[in-house]
Amino acid sequence: MSEKPGLDADLQLGVEEVDREHGLQVALIDELERAGSEAESASIAQRLHDTTEAHFIGEELLMRQHSYPLYHAHVEEHGKLLAQLAALRERHGKSESGWRAELREWLQGHIRGPDRDFTLFAKSAGSATNATRG
Ligand SMILES: [Fe+2]
Ligand SMILES: [Fe+2]
Repeated sequence: MSEKPGLDADLQLGVEEVDREHGLQVALIDELERAGSEAESASIAQRLHDTTEAHFIGEELLMRQHSYPLYHAHVEEHGKLLAQLAALRERHGKSESGWRAELREWLQGHIRGPDRDFTLFAKSAGSATNATRG
């Protein structure tokens, strides 16, 4: 099965590994919204941070393998989100009601923008899909 929990069709970019990891990020944000306690929420926020950090490392490696010309700008965006995630963990528990929605918006905007641009570039270069399999 190629089900990608939490990932709407319009967020799928056609590079298997990238899509799978984006699905995981979105699913964790869904889980955060359903969290029943602060402890549960903190644990999910930690997993989201770690999953996102690992995903960015993989995505950045893929960009370097393709000599992607917008690499530095994209990495800067990743840095901003990681800082935001770290700040969220700090602020956690102070009832910041809008932050989950902000996070979802940022992530979806990043996938639809810079991530889509990169995967289109990689696919047009020919080997992104094959390079990320296996
Ligand atoms: Fe990205
Ligand atoms: Fe991504």
